[in-house]
Amino acid sequence: MNSITGLMLAGAVLTGSVMLTGCGGSGSSDLYKDATQPVEKRVENLLSQMTLDEKIGQLNQRSMWGGDDALAIFSEEISKGNIGSLLNVPDAVYADSMQRVAIERSRLGIPVLISRDVIHGYKTIFPIPLGQAATFDTAVVEKGARIAAVEASSDGIRWTFAPMIDIARDPRWGRIAEGCGEDVYLTSRMSRAMVKGFQGDDLTSSTSMAACAKHFVGYGASESGRDYNSTFIPERLLRNVYLPPFEEACKAGCLTYMSSFNDNDGVPASGNKFVLTDILRGEWGFNGFVVSDWASVGEMVNHGFCADRKEAAMKGFNAGVDMEMESGTYIAHMKELLDEGKVSQADIDRSVANILRVKFMLGLFENPYITTPQDVKYSDEHLAAAKEAAVKSAILLKNDNETLPLSSGVKRILLTGPLADARHDQMGTWVFDGEKEKTVTLLDALRNEYGGDINIIYEPALGYSRDKNEAGIARAVNAVRGVDAVIAVVGEESILSGEAHCLADLNLVGAQGKLIEALSHTGKPLVTVVMAGRPLTIKKQVDESDAVLYSFHPGTMGGPALADLIFGKESPSGKTPVTFPLAVGQVPIYYSKNAGSRPANGTETLLNDIPQEGGQTSLGNTSYWLDAGFGPLFPFGYGLSYGQFDYSDIAIDKDTYSKGDCIKATATLTNSGKHKATEVAQLYIRDHAGSVTRPVKELKGFERVTLSPGESTTVTFNLPVSELAFYGSDMAKKVEPGDFTLWIGGNSDCKLSTPFKVAN
Ligand code: NOJ
Repeated sequence: MNSITGLMLAGAVLTGSVMLTGCGGSGSSDLYKDATQPVEKRVENLLSQMTLDEKIGQLNQRSMWGGDDALAIFSEEISKGNIGSLLNVPDAVYADSMQRVAIERSRLGIPVLISRDVIHGYKTIFPIPLGQAATFDTAVVEKGARIAAVEASSDGIRWTFAPMIDIARDPRWGRIAEGCGEDVYLTSRMSRAMVKGFQGDDLTSSTSMAACAKHFVGYGASESGRDYNSTFIPERLLRNVYLPPFEEACKAGCLTYMSSFNDNDGVPASGNKFVLTDILRGEWGFNGFVVSDWASVGEMVNHGFCADRKEAAMKGFNAGVDMEMESGTYIAHMKELLDEGKVSQADIDRSVANILRVKFMLGLFENPYITTPQDVKYSDEHLAAAKEAAVKSAILLKNDNETLPLSSGVKRILLTGPLADARHDQMGTWVFDGEKEKTVTLLDALRNEYGGDINIIYEPALGYSRDKNEAGIARAVNAVRGVDAVIAVVGEESILSGEAHCLADLNLVGAQGKLIEALSHTGKPLVTVVMAGRPLTIKKQVDESDAVLYSFHPGTMGGPALADLIFGKESPSGKTPVTFPLAVGQVPIYYSKNAGSRPANGTETLLNDIPQEGGQTSLGNTSYWLDAGFGPLFPFGYGLSYGQFDYSDIAIDKDTYSKGDCIKATATLTNSGKHKATEVAQLYIRDHAGSVTRPVKELKGFERVTLSPGESTTVTFNLPVSELAFYGSDMAKKVEPGDFTLWIGGNSDCKLSTPFKVAN
């Protein structure tokens, strides 16, 4: 921060809470300035004083940049009332000075809503959302969002474009990193946790940030995993799979939604009235506002849904997009559209009211400026929480011969691989503000915390994940002489996932595969750590390694977290939030699929078992791939620990339930291993026959349970029968009576089950 603007900021902080003194009216017309009045009265009063231009200005969100020209341009636009919200404001000083213009120089003193992509931390970076989902720990996730809000709001940011709650079942799609994976229930639980964390307990607190549920809706189903592509989700699938996390966000009080880039079945999300208005407002009663994704209103022309930008403005607005991000079609065409009767004054007023309501709810009229201290960033408490999240997000995929944790006998290790000391890449996608200088890598952590007792030899072998230069591999292989174990950290640089970073091949990039292969031939215990933004097809590396820890880009404190896991100070407890495919050709592959007519049963004939010139037959064949079988590399919900968890004695409290009942399901969970560890116990159900086909398994509950060696406990799930409801043949949500199975276990492939019935 430079000293001149620093002074401005200091002034702003001192100003604190303000009496609004916009150049406009006073007296009875000032009711909207009175914080004791109900929000709706304030909205109505303010709206009644606004000109049409000022109203249209509220619907306009602009991206800001730095420099004096930007200050001049944006000051002018804001003072005229032409901008309702800013994104990408360079820093706290710009934020406060733009706010000051809005409050002091615009006619009615309406604050601008300052927004940003604060996705998995602001300065203190938490694991990417996919990693946070792997914790199956809503408290940790809520805390991460709260900390992000505390840090971001200290720079004036009061609205984040998160949570991203797109169900994603295709790891080719780079944006799978930003969401919570493939599962409806897990994503819904995380959705609520993040909304609560970002928004806090008191919306008017200067540390609260409005959340934005995105991308509404279906974006995760982008055809062939290619970004900005079309989706084809029929209404029932939309309602049963893609909408529930968004409905949960609404129930949690999420203040805003973002319409997505995709066209679903021919209708771009930003022009989809059925979703944006009929469902969101009509069915769910949402009363916040909808912002378009960046330029997505204007891009309805690219989709071929609108002939020109004016028509795009009309269709976007009439569908229910209140605020337009960046493309400027509303500001350019709304008046004309109103004159021509193509949009209505009532709808403009309603959209403006939706936006003003959120501004009032956030207390922005009373506290427009930064009041929280700047030094909250990277506090010890925040770093500790980021570390805890990184510990809990790491997934132990393999641990032959109890290679991990490394024993006290290990005195000399080789640390290798391009992600072992990658400060930037460890933070993952969507990081605008986290500073790589603050990242603690595995190399740092091993040296700082374990280097006293253990001799750490570091030979990265490759400069970065895509590095194809194999010269360093020989150096790493040479360095294994005399070491007790090798830790290889491979994966993806952060830029290989996230928006617009899709892949058609999910194998390790560059020469990383060769590095692991070469290390596996050295005969030393090989621990492979993968840092990535998606599940990669790493069967070969899993086979070649003794132990594999998967750490979706773990953020600022990933290094200390992994070091403690590797040396057993912590036990891994993360579970896969998404199925790991064996081969990219299996994608999309997810556990909660429908059975199909001939489900695979494990007796399949594989490619190399087919006789030459075998006769044409489909008899006895089931649904699988000749070259990949039918199962994944790792199923959803999978993850080992340093304990050994066994499930037994599943029981339910009745054989037959009625629709108003709550099912009480129990199982005994025992840690028969040698280490204290945490298991995520999971509850799944199957509805065997419905008015439409139902998934073979659906997650309906999970609980983290910590047990000492030899300890047993009863895990108990209380599942309301109403949670079995789905949208059936009549497109109404209800529980259909019949036969069900209930499982309790450690992943979606669990076998311990019991049948039950739901009566009419
Ligand atoms: C486009 C992305 O799709 C969205 O997720 C993000 O919030 C906006 N740009 C703003 O940066």
